[in-house]
Amino acid sequence: MMRSETHRCMDRICEADIPCREDLEYLLMLDNPVEVELLFERADRVRRERFGDGIILRAILEFSNRCLGSCAYCGLNVRCRDRQRYRMTMEEILTAAEDIAELGIRTIVLQSGEDRTASDEICEVIERIKERFDTAITLSLGEHAYSDYAAWKDAGADRYLLKIETGSRNLYDRLHPGMIFDNRLRCLHDLKELGYEVGCGIIVGLPEQSVDILIDDILMLKAGGFDMVSIGPFIPHPATVLAREAPGDLSMTLKAIAIARLAIPDAHMPANTAVGNVADRDKRTSALLAGANVLMLNCTPEPFASLYEIYPKKKSGNGCIESLEHFERMASDVGRTLDYSRGDSIRTTKVEQSPSAMN
Ligand code: 5AD
Repeated sequence: MMRSETHRCMDRICEADIPCREDLEYLLMLDNPVEVELLFERADRVRRERFGDGIILRAILEFSNRCLGSCAYCGLNVRCRDRQRYRMTMEEILTAAEDIAELGIRTIVLQSGEDRTASDEICEVIERIKERFDTAITLSLGEHAYSDYAAWKDAGADRYLLKIETGSRNLYDRLHPGMIFDNRLRCLHDLKELGYEVGCGIIVGLPEQSVDILIDDILMLKAGGFDMVSIGPFIPHPATVLAREAPGDLSMTLKAIAIARLAIPDAHMPANTAVGNVADRDKRTSALLAGANVLMLNCTPEPFASLYEIYPKKKSGNGCIESLEHFERMASDVGRTLDYSRGDSIRTTKVEQSPSAMN
């Protein structure tokens, strides 16, 4: 039987060190449901070969929503002055960490806005959590100085998430007034040099993001050699200048996830929270069937969880345990199970690349 052009594109992307733009475009533009399904099935197969059928769990703790960032799409950006800001106390953070440990989840993702006044406290948080619990710690705190990243690594942090958001310098500049694309690259480079497992990611459907830019975005994720890759749709936040823009397209997001799975087979990829919030129904199972192998449980206690509004979130009920049951159902809906291991990186060949090679 003749293999279709879709098959040939997928073969080439799986093989290539640098996927060719035409192949990426061909797959991103697929709209025949049968062909799209071929893409998802192939991504699902690659996911299973690398990671098996366990869905790795991470617990997110949003411990502060103070932020100096100017990200135009984000409801926590510095211009959203009417937001009520918080920073959880050490006691509150440790109590939440204990709840997470009791659930059996062995990665805590400490997430906050870009608050540059808390460096020492963060060291202490990391040390105290590591003393008491057998858990990996992932930080997701934005752009900081090399010395801060180094201190947090010394304190025991294992991983760091910093999305590039878009690989287009132009679009990045327009969406992040006053922020510097090269500083983002510098941060990603520093984090790798310090030995963190590094996660990067992009937003699909940002205003003015053409298919050509989405191709740049995917190529950048591939070139960066990341341990984790997160791709989610843009969700307009009513308090931002992008309030009236259209949300990102779910089908384009799922195709981008599937293509990333083919191009970056070893990366842990979450069915992320934005995928769960973009439509009326939670679409994370669709992402789990298109190459994703990770779920992130939001374990931020109220009232803080409601104040951490990067985009409007659907209310999930009464916190942790209930959501874990929801995750159990999602896993069984896709014929898989929840995996309570640490989920360390499986990347063996750590090819280090310079920031310029990522762009
Ligand atoms: N829509 C989708 N994703 C968003 N993020 C922030 N705001 C939005 C939004 N409106 C994502 C960014 C950021 C992470 C914390 O949340 O990718 O890195």
